[in-house]
Amino acid sequence: MEWKVLCVGLTFVLFAYFIYTPMPENIEEPWKVRIMDAVVKCTSFVAKLLENIGIMRYEEFFTMLMELDYSQPISDENITVTDTTFSDIPVRLYLPKRKSERKRRAVIFIHGGAFVLGSFKQLSYDFLNRQTANKLDAVVVGADYRLAPQYQFPVALDDVFAVVKHFLQDKILEKYGVDPTRICISGDSCGGLLATKVIQLMQNNPEFKDKIKAQALLYPHLQIIDTSTPSYQENKYGPILSKDLGIQLECLYLTTDKRCIEAVEANQHMPEESRHLFKFVNWSIFLPEKFKKNHVYSEPILGRYDFRNPALMDSRLSPLLVSDIELQKLPLTYILTCQYDILRDDGLMYVTRLRNVGVQVTHDHIENGFHGALAYMGSMVHLRIGIRLKDKYISWLDENL
Ligand SMILES: *[C@@H]1O[C@H](CO)[C@@H](O)[C@H](O)[C@H]1NC(C)=O
Ligand SMILES: *[C@@H]1O[C@H](CO)[C@@H](O)[C@H](O)[C@H]1NC(C)=O
Repeated sequence: MEWKVLCVGLTFVLFAYFIYTPMPENIEEPWKVRIMDAVVKCTSFVAKLLENIGIMRYEEFFTMLMELDYSQPISDENITVTDTTFSDIPVRLYLPKRKSERKRRAVIFIHGGAFVLGSFKQLSYDFLNRQTANKLDAVVVGADYRLAPQYQFPVALDDVFAVVKHFLQDKILEKYGVDPTRICISGDSCGGLLATKVIQLMQNNPEFKDKIKAQALLYPHLQIIDTSTPSYQENKYGPILSKDLGIQLECLYLTTDKRCIEAVEANQHMPEESRHLFKFVNWSIFLPEKFKKNHVYSEPILGRYDFRNPALMDSRLSPLLVSDIELQKLPLTYILTCQYDILRDDGLMYVTRLRNVGVQVTHDHIENGFHGALAYMGSMVHLRIGIRLKDKYISWLDENL
């Protein structure tokens, strides 16, 4: 009994502590965001505690909580929703019910979650994909992929590639009445990374070239080689996604070596032989002036940790690490970035690099947005900012796909 009281007391104290984290002034509904931020920080704290005393692994505690938010495939008056598999990978299909004279547009959506968490089953993704299908009268595929730490780099990408490849078969497109010239791949956060890389791979492969009409990347994660960009520095403590949380999770996709976290947090994780890659993510060149503020670019510190992991130099983990030639032929692009997001500059740099080589990019920057805002559209936690982001994304698709 006393033990329980102590636990409840401790949680309360932690929560009270975290809830006083400063919030940027222009954040809408600041108290709701503060509460959600405190929930995430408490979860991370408790998860570390449980791992240290050997009860469960860090990510297992997160997964346990997130699964409470998973939905069943429930059809409604407009959309038939079913869970199935494409090449053995679970997907959720949204098929409009009404009759259509024409073939339909299609969107494949890849969820985020730092390669460790999440599913298309989360209520907010189900809501997003259902609304996309409804508003666009489109076929939507929500794709899962195997998660870390059980499945490490590059399994997530291989799975997503397999799903896309399966869907693009003529007989499958025919079966679902999809117009093969109007297909988009979308994703948020790490899902944005996976979408980005799959499209790069397809565009540079004669078998799949020009099969994707558009890409929509929502606060995408696009590189891990520099973790001291201005956005990492400004948003180190969140809201919602802190640098610590992002790196704790992402390292699980790379390695079982715990030194990874320390090395990446210090931004000293890259080996000596990676020097030539930094020109692809040089924020002092690719960021618009207003985001550089008074940050000063410093050259990378290399070879300090002798932490060798080939994935760190691989564009399948950091899709920004490709040459301009490989970017030239990419399709019509939508990129959404949020001001309060450690990953903001990844997206901003991709906007610049794509525009530099003539790719058509629509860029929405949300001045009071924060990473993960799309997760707050469900019935339990409802934030206006989440709905706004969703509406921007869907209306871009409607006008451009
Ligand atoms: C079904 O579509 C109609 C017409 O677009 C819309 O008014 C209605 O809200 C939709 N139903 C659901 C459950 O989304
Ligand atoms: C980054 O760009 C700056 C110019 O803004 C340049 O001085 C520096 O050498 C570049 N560093 C790398 C690693 O590309």
